[in-house]
Amino acid sequence: MVRPVRKAVFPVAGLGTRFLPATKAMPKEMLTIVDRPLIQYAVEEAQAAGIEELILITGRGKTVMADHFDHSFELAQVLKDRGKTEALKQITDLLPEPGQMSFIRQQQPLGLGHAVWCARNFIQGEPFAVILADDLILAKPGVLTQMVEAYNEVGGNVVAVEDVPRQYTNRYGILDVESDDGRLARAKGLVEKPDPSVAPSTLSIIGRYILQPEVFDHLAKKERGAGGEIQLTDAIAKTIGTVPFHGYRFMGERFDCGQRRGFIEANIAFAMQVDDLRDQVIELLRKYA
Ligand code: G1P
Repeated sequence: MVRPVRKAVFPVAGLGTRFLPATKAMPKEMLTIVDRPLIQYAVEEAQAAGIEELILITGRGKTVMADHFDHSFELAQVLKDRGKTEALKQITDLLPEPGQMSFIRQQQPLGLGHAVWCARNFIQGEPFAVILADDLILAKPGVLTQMVEAYNEVGGNVVAVEDVPRQYTNRYGILDVESDDGRLARAKGLVEKPDPSVAPSTLSIIGRYILQPEVFDHLAKKERGAGGEIQLTDAIAKTIGTVPFHGYRFMGERFDCGQRRGFIEANIAFAMQVDDLRDQVIELLRKYA
């Protein structure tokens, strides 16, 4: 019996440099796909997977996210007075239960591994999920739900993976695959952002992780890796041999919303899922083609 995953960490302190100037004063996780910010999709995905505690690792200028998930008395009152029931529902449905969401400041941008390490006292020795909100995935059921199912079979550390063109291995954590049944790949190693010429495979980590708390033992050493940052990938790699490790090929389509192309594509793909928008999107794409 594996231990259940009840907590999720959302590292949202990144500088969003690939999306400047949009992200100068606003966190990239507040970028909007159709009608909701990326962080909301990530939180909803976690809740659908049974996550009970949500921990956002924030940085300076990120208070807008705490506001987004807070009750807005004035707005709620105005919507109520004006009889805007649907809009009122939109802003109340997204509220977490009182005490369900916590915020921790990552004081310095030292890397993804350091951001996750900042959550160690909240995780308290339990397995936990990590969701990178700018990797938005259109999937039913949500990718974290799929991963929890796979985790219940194999336990240990499970990360979402997909194959990428070899020229892009230097953007991702890459698996050194030992065995692969097409759904779950067992790896004997992991490398952060290897050059295409030396990448052990093209199987890449996408921003969803289920991790055992042992990873904190390695993150605590604060060793610098690729780009001089404290890398989550390196800490996970060090647990291989002690903790089972699997890459899970998810069902769904992933959009890298930290880049212009992925962001625009996600807007189109998600809008196509909305009944009263689909025809308008097709019409607009024709108009501007
Ligand atoms: C991070 C991880 C990387 C992973 C990627 C997925 O990189 O370090 O291993 O493949 O997310 O999006 P970043 O995109 O923060 O550079």
